[in-house]
Amino acid sequence: MRLSEDFISELKYRSDISDIASSYMQLKRRGRNLVGLCPFHGEKTPSFNIYTENGSFYCFGCGAGGDVITFIMKIENLDYMEAVKFLAQRAGMDMPEETVDDSMSKLRTRVFEANREAARFYYSKLYSPEGSAALNYLHTRVLTDNTIRRFGLGYSPNSRFALTNHLKAKGFTDSELIAANLVFKARSGNGVVDRFVDRAMFPIIDLRGNVIGFGGRIMSDQKPKYLNTSDTIVFNKSQNLFSLNNAKNSGTRRLILCEGYMDVITLNQAGFTDAVATLGTALTTEQAMLMKRYCDEVVICYDADEAGQKATQRAIGILRNTGLVVRVLSIPDGKDPDEFIRKNGDKGTAAFKNILENSGNDVEYRLFKLKQNYDIKTTDGKFAYLSQAVKVLSSLDNRMEQDIYASKLSAEVEVEKNSILEQIKKSERAKYRNDRKNEFSKLSSKISGRDDKINPQHSKKPRATVAEQNLIAYLINNPDKLSFIEKKITPDDFVTDFNKSLFEYFSKRIKDSKEPLTTLSADFTADEVSAIVSIITKYSQVAATDTALLEYINTIKEENLKPTDTDIASSSKDEFDTFLKKLKEKHK
Ligand code: CTP
Ligand code: MN
Repeated sequence: MRLSEDFISELKYRSDISDIASSYMQLKRRGRNLVGLCPFHGEKTPSFNIYTENGSFYCFGCGAGGDVITFIMKIENLDYMEAVKFLAQRAGMDMPEETVDDSMSKLRTRVFEANREAARFYYSKLYSPEGSAALNYLHTRVLTDNTIRRFGLGYSPNSRFALTNHLKAKGFTDSELIAANLVFKARSGNGVVDRFVDRAMFPIIDLRGNVIGFGGRIMSDQKPKYLNTSDTIVFNKSQNLFSLNNAKNSGTRRLILCEGYMDVITLNQAGFTDAVATLGTALTTEQAMLMKRYCDEVVICYDADEAGQKATQRAIGILRNTGLVVRVLSIPDGKDPDEFIRKNGDKGTAAFKNILENSGNDVEYRLFKLKQNYDIKTTDGKFAYLSQAVKVLSSLDNRMEQDIYASKLSAEVEVEKNSILEQIKKSERAKYRNDRKNEFSKLSSKISGRDDKINPQHSKKPRATVAEQNLIAYLINNPDKLSFIEKKITPDDFVTDFNKSLFEYFSKRIKDSKEPLTTLSADFTADEVSAIVSIITKYSQVAATDTALLEYINTIKEENLKPTDTDIASSSKDEFDTFLKKLKEKHK
């Protein structure tokens, strides 16, 4: 069902986008607007803008944009109705009585409920006779009952129907359980069967306390060692972290990033509640930005094996690009933090604390790793090491940091510090040129509309597209000019379909005396909203005079008469002659 226009207006009025965004990120005032580092993509210089005047945001870096509802949808990972509820609760407004959840929200709620019930079921099974081997397994991994309870660990029985029967008796349907990925369709034909069988279960809980998925560990040497919930409507592996719900309350502004569930749990038991882990996939930029909301510093604590070290190099880049301070902890003894702490028995906490305190920063780590590849006693080795080290240092944007490491390097390889600094400068200049080149090609593809996914006709008709965008932005900002504009141009004059539909949409809203932008996020997809806000944002940079308006209209009409490549190819001689005639008349 659709929420009333009045309700959404009131909600937006009470939900100041500057206040709300400020609780997720740091914003600085610039004139009437606010700017900050975009929370939707990794960046070091701010391209995220909040326009207080019309309550919208737009990022020039990634193109994300919209109103306060879109902002909450994106940052809290909610759908439209959920974001409205979220804001209504915050603003102390009751949702309208007749609001029935749309089917998607309803299904989501059911999936959350099924997951919660499944977690309860697995936990109870762990402490039943069937679960004794699993409980024993967790105990041999030195987890206490307290820790097991705290993480809600469990056991999925050795039967294909244990959970299925339990949840069906509780009223869940097959399709709800399939949507939760707790069961799958039986190969034999009808009915569904449990996904997790005879495994120790690790529930994954999001920041609002919902159970969103599970990891299940086999207790033998069989493969796969861990089976995880596949992505569902409530679970996205690249946007969540295991135990962030606990870690966010640790009060340290630091997070320890591990590879596995067991590492995080053992660390928690040892008192390090700020540990988190990715969910069986490589770290993503989204996860790095999520971490940045809760910490300033990340200590990477991956496995000591080669795969872990490779993943560390990758993670350093991602985390640094998000503006986080990065340290790297190397496990001296054992394969991962879990093993290390267990090996140290009673002294586990103290031993880990010690290596944590001695963990170096990411630059030291990268230089150390580099050095292992070369024999710096030979001239060739020294030279090769130095060239690579210079690349590492030129990637730092802090002069002081560069200077410190240049001194260290100089002493290490016995080369003048000044010549090292000179090489760094050279390498930076090359990088600068390269960046410029990339930026230029990005800009030129933007202008040509080559990667405009929302308006695919943009690249074929760039001139028309821009004029149409300007006209639409003009109309939104000057709704009183609608009748004037309508005398000069009709939707059918528009060249691109997307812009035509926008023109019709905004004209109708204005005619119905509605504020043009109020229900944007209800009426368009997130990507469309971004495209629309981008159009409106550009408007402040183009002329808004009557002369400009007429020019936009003329350009659109002119472009409308031009045939497209396919038109020419498929047009008959007659059609082509008519077109030429029209064109001549126009230029008389
Ligand atoms: N993982 C996975 N699927 C696998 C293996 C691993 O999803 N088949 C993920 C799990 O999230 C696991 C993490 O990768 O926690 C680390 O894997 P690994 O180092 O192999 O396991 P450990 O965490 O050391 O697990 P354990 O200590 O239980 O052996
Ligand atoms: Mn392990």
